[in-house]
Amino acid sequence: MKTQVELGARVRELMPTVRGDLETLVRIPSISHPGHDPRELRRSAEATATILGAAGCETRLLEIEGAPPAVLGRIPAPAGAPTVLLYAHHDVQPTGARTLWHSDPFEPIEKDGRLYGRGSSDDKCGVVIHAGAIRAHDGHPPVGVTVFVEGEEEWGSPNLGKFLARYGDQLKADAVVLADSGNWRTGQPGITISLRGIVACDIEVRTLDHAVHSGEFGGPVPDALTVLAKTLASLHDEKGNVAVKGIATGTADPLDLTEEELRKQTGLRPSVRLIGDGGITDRMWMRPSISVLGIDAPKLTESTNQLVPSAKARVSMRIPPGQDHEAAMQALIDHLRSHVPWGAEVKVEPRGAGRPYRVKTEGKAYDALRAAFKEAFPKPAVEMGQGGSIPFVFDFAKAFPNAALLLTGASDPFSNAHSEDESVDLGDLERSVLAEALFLQNLAG
Ligand code: BES
Ligand code: MN
Repeated sequence: MKTQVELGARVRELMPTVRGDLETLVRIPSISHPGHDPRELRRSAEATATILGAAGCETRLLEIEGAPPAVLGRIPAPAGAPTVLLYAHHDVQPTGARTLWHSDPFEPIEKDGRLYGRGSSDDKCGVVIHAGAIRAHDGHPPVGVTVFVEGEEEWGSPNLGKFLARYGDQLKADAVVLADSGNWRTGQPGITISLRGIVACDIEVRTLDHAVHSGEFGGPVPDALTVLAKTLASLHDEKGNVAVKGIATGTADPLDLTEEELRKQTGLRPSVRLIGDGGITDRMWMRPSISVLGIDAPKLTESTNQLVPSAKARVSMRIPPGQDHEAAMQALIDHLRSHVPWGAEVKVEPRGAGRPYRVKTEGKAYDALRAAFKEAFPKPAVEMGQGGSIPFVFDFAKAFPNAALLLTGASDPFSNAHSEDESVDLGDLERSVLAEALFLQNLAG
């Protein structure tokens, strides 16, 4: 076993390697959304296996028909020691418009202490944190380690249940570290205590068999885009609260987050007011939210003086812990159907749902994590909710009912996950590697 000081020095020394590993992964455009080259997901799985192998794991790719490969890395437990399962995902979100990025999304660059590139924070840093923590122990951590890195989290982990069913025996652990969450602030760690769930659906409205002249028939005859806009507008009340009936709400610790800080984190324009009732953290973590993610309708450049016959939108609702996801989906669908004006035809198609989750943060593993954070970070850890969703946490809890689940990650509110210019703070990356190395040490006792 190493002392805390020795581990700190070792991690410092390892950072060029850890960063190199992250750069290697970021260079691979492993986008799991359909329509992107699946060979890139195989390449990122292979690169992940190489990194874990170099860190000291015995590695192999896990295959399920039709799913991107997952990666398994193993180091057997020393006699009498517990085993920890370390989770991350090697797939990433699409880039969106490349013109919005200040640099190539798949060519990592450093600026002001942060490393930029798609997946730098969500979630390729998770992979290199695990590898780095193992390297800090020279490939011989004082506990058994199983690393499991999946390749379809950003597409909702549709095959995770199958992976757990087929390979579950090899994944058994006393504690599970899911490095797919994030920190409270740059330099200030977060212990994630809750996650919101998510339900999404597509709505299509139709008013006409075909487009007609907007001047000739506009007036008595409604266009579908106006119908869609009115339907979508019904999803919030005047104050911006979610208007779908019957969705659970709760309260969260307000912590020390001010409106001013939230505005900075999100780039909210000065004239725009925050919406909804309740504290800011209530609204982000313990109340539902609804967003319209996209609309299929004529582009301005293709639009002409016609009444648009049909239009489509994708609607996503986040739901707090305590809310059943299936009931939430039904409530959203019912709301949409019943708010379409003027008798327009409507089709609503569910697009997937994920459960919310409330984490139990007691026990030996959490003591080990808290002590590790205390040592590795300059500021105290904050028990925080997350507004994002990690639906598979529920699957892990079901598969390993006796294991503690710990949600960590090096991302922070400035990481721009899913957006352009995604980044990770390199200081937090180092602190996260150290924290995980210390956690493994602490858990061994
Ligand atoms: N890492 C995120 C979840 C997350 C977001 C945790 C923000 C903490 C803060 C994860 O990769 C993710 O984006 N999940 C999706 C789930 C969806 C694809 C079912 C999400 O929340 O949109
Ligand atoms: Mn993620």
